[in-house]
Amino acid sequence: DITVYVENADGERVAVPVPTDMGLSLMEALKANEFDILATCGGMALCATCHVELLEAPELPEPSDDELYMLENLPNLRDTSRLSCQIKVTPELDGLVLRVMSDH
Ligand code: FES
Repeated sequence: DITVYVENADGERVAVPVPTDMGLSLMEALKANEFDILATCGGMALCATCHVELLEAPELPEPSDDELYMLENLPNLRDTSRLSCQIKVTPELDGLVLRVMSDH
């Protein structure tokens, strides 16, 4: 397992253990840990309710055109915004720090 950290509104970082051998996306891992992520489209890069801001992250594969299109239309887009459903959990993600940006 790896550990991902989710920073809350108070700047505190909550450690989230995530298995790497289940083929999960980051969205699925966050949802499984009861974070406030709707993921309405089920991980198809169509809803952007899984929006996260990466605060500390390793080099990741570039977002697809579909993901970029969704991100560009977000009112709260940040430089390091990503759709968490489009990020596959791999051992390289150990220590990743993110903020959940879905607002609903
Ligand atoms: Fe819908 Fe990620 S779950 S865009």
